[in-house]
Amino acid sequence: MADFDFDVLVIGAGPGGYVAAIRAAQLGLKTACAESRETLGGTCLNVGCIPSKAMLHASEYYDAAANGAFAKLGIKVTPELDLDTMHGQRKDAVKQLTGGIEFLFKKNKVEWLKGLGTFTGPNTVKVGDRTVTAKNIVIATGSSVTPLPGVEIDQKVVVDSTGALELPRVPEHMVVIGGGVIGLELGSVWRRLGAKVTCVEFLDQILPGFDGEVRKESNKILKKQGFEFKLGTKVTKVDVNGGKATLTMEPAKGGAAETLEADCVLVSIGRRPNTEGLGLDKIGLQLNQRGQIETDHDFRTKAAGVWAIGDVIPGPMLAHKAEDEGIAVAENIAGLTGIVNHDVIPSVVYTWPEIAGVGLTEEQAKEKGEVKVGKFPMLANSRAKTNHEPDGFVKVIADAKTDRVLGVWCIASVAGTMIAQAAQAMEFGATSEDIAYTCHAHPTHSEAIKEAAMAVAGKPIHI
Ligand code: FAD
Ligand code: NAI
Repeated sequence: MADFDFDVLVIGAGPGGYVAAIRAAQLGLKTACAESRETLGGTCLNVGCIPSKAMLHASEYYDAAANGAFAKLGIKVTPELDLDTMHGQRKDAVKQLTGGIEFLFKKNKVEWLKGLGTFTGPNTVKVGDRTVTAKNIVIATGSSVTPLPGVEIDQKVVVDSTGALELPRVPEHMVVIGGGVIGLELGSVWRRLGAKVTCVEFLDQILPGFDGEVRKESNKILKKQGFEFKLGTKVTKVDVNGGKATLTMEPAKGGAAETLEADCVLVSIGRRPNTEGLGLDKIGLQLNQRGQIETDHDFRTKAAGVWAIGDVIPGPMLAHKAEDEGIAVAENIAGLTGIVNHDVIPSVVYTWPEIAGVGLTEEQAKEKGEVKVGKFPMLANSRAKTNHEPDGFVKVIADAKTDRVLGVWCIASVAGTMIAQAAQAMEFGATSEDIAYTCHAHPTHSEAIKEAAMAVAGKPIHI
């Protein structure tokens, strides 16, 4: 057998790639990871999950001080925005966490090959001016912003998510194109800090892929907070002149065009896989119609010795999905059995309140068969009520015959934390009765999941 420089070479050091590299090294495989950015951690740590949550966390406190939520608790403050310090703590969080991955690479003896990785042939990749061979190569190159045809991103007036994290001042009017996760999270940041935010969404409702009732209720709550929504509307043009943007929009189904003025436009209409410049033709690998790399259940591609994980393959573009695939692919390469249950991947939108779900939506579940649904409003949850957090609900969807839980959806201040117990219950094949008879600590928001599970059998206590 040919000798290789490495047992495993991972291309891309995002949550998929860096986790795959660390686990491969932990399993005794000689591992390298190619990354073209100056820092490790990929989209998530550098320009995604982490910096967005740093801005969401800080702006949530600012908003609570400014909108009277603190005053309701007997804390009188008049907040003054220090945006430079807010950006500073965002940058600190990114620096510490990306540095942490560098430390973990050293600790686990993963070699970081700095530069862009390009296949030059089977088992061979050129990274910068070095060419290396590896028995197994994992493509974990992630994704980047989908451009809107005819709309040029200048990162000043027209920005993508990266530009929207770094705005040097609060815009007067921000228009968000796309009512998905990025639009709602980053729109929330700037709305809380004082911007008027209008969200233009092509579909007739925000948050595609989420449960229908959750989409409607989220829309209502965000509207109450000051978001303006133009649903069923498409942007056809953005003209920038003297630091101002004029958007031309028309109904998605066709009709008269209208214009809208803004001093900042965020383009957040989705992300697409990074495959350009990878040299996939050198290993005979083709993309599917959506530009993704297809794999089998073990994350093997059609090219021998080549595996792929994360945003570059089909499935939700989420950091935790990429991480779990990273562990699974390394274990499969090592001859173990690495599995990801793609039916139980939670999604969380970190707005206020948070919006979270796992498993099937009610619509999807009903397509598959008869279901029972239990709902519980956060208004009736003692902790949420005490904390002045009345918005939202929990919904548990169970199979009508077997009672097995098929999906759980929450809108609650800590929905992102609550959804973990639902995912765990589903992973263990729980019924709604199992959740209803599990003792939950009082007073916690999580009791709303127990009550929603009790409501599946028509017997909640507190409503
Ligand atoms: P990436 O993180 O995109 O990493 C791929 C890496 O590969 C990059 O660093 C890139 O530079 C490198 N690379 C690409 N091509 C090459 C090459 N040829 N050679 C060398 N290196 C290469 N997900 C969540 O789960 N929760 C969140 O809260 C969340 N928030 C987000 C907020 C924003 C604003 C954005 C944009 C995304 C967010 N996401 C979130 C999505 C999450 O960031 C991605 O799903 C995740 O980063 C995907 O991981 P990955 O490892 O597949 O790819
Ligand atoms: P998205 O897919 O969530 O939403 C894009 C929205 O834009 C959709 O509602 C779509 O209908 C709409 N749209 C598409 N074309 C349009 C047009 N021409 N005009 C108006 N609307 C249009 O994509 P988004 O928000 O860019 O996020 C990308 C990815 O990043 C998501 O897949 C998400 O999984 C991930 N992400 C995850 C986060 C989290 O887990 N909290 C946070 C941020 C991003």
